[in-house]
Amino acid sequence: MTRDFLSNSSKSHHNASKRSKKEEDQVSFEVADALNQPFADGSFDLICCIECENHISDKTKFVLELSRVAAPGATIIILTWCHRDLSPLEQDLHPDEKKLLTHVLRRNPLKWISTADYINLFKSCSFQEIKYADWSPHVAPFYAEMRKITLSWKGIMSYVRHAGWRQMDIKFLMMPSMFDRFKNGLLKYCILTCQKPQ
Ligand SMILES: C[S@@+](CC[C@H](N)C(=O)[O-])C[C@H]1O[C@@H](n2cnc3c(N)ncnc32)[C@H](O)[C@@H]1O
Repeated sequence: MTRDFLSNSSKSHHNASKRSKKEEDQVSFEVADALNQPFADGSFDLICCIECENHISDKTKFVLELSRVAAPGATIIILTWCHRDLSPLEQDLHPDEKKLLTHVLRRNPLKWISTADYINLFKSCSFQEIKYADWSPHVAPFYAEMRKITLSWKGIMSYVRHAGWRQMDIKFLMMPSMFDRFKNGLLKYCILTCQKPQ
């Protein structure tokens, strides 16, 4: 089955609607909650999820739902921000690290877990062939550029035009610098793949 499952982002929906007529004939789009997907069991041979999991608190339910809609042998690809893996002696991140992470998106608090946590979740849902790579160096130039643009006068005015002055505060202006944290290893941009057993 070829079906493009979109998140509930209007931007994604807008981009989707711009696709060619030929593609539209072959692909259908649906907007849905990733935790309660309106798809039958085993619907997809390939599931790709880009930067949505950080916004989902119930990671276990999310992975279970992926497992449900994946067909036997299906490939799952997830691109997501993760916090650093804990050492065997650590129970949790340091309080100052947790504070930094909660400030990344203040209005839309994100739920951070580590790559090791994702791998354990996949394992607990019987996924196989679990692989992981740290893509932080590849996304670093994008976030450096985003930081420059956001903190420019043009960037600030563009944000105000879209979101209004009331949404603007010093924490917003500092937000792009939070992404610099991945340079210190606190945040990582990860790609994870796995397969549902046949
Ligand atoms: C950083 S955006 C990424 C959007 C898109 N995947 C992209 O790469 O441009 C995070 C998206 O997650 C979506 N999202 C958050 N919780 C969701 C949920 N429970 N089900 C589906 N989408 C969700 C938000 O609506 C938002 O569009």
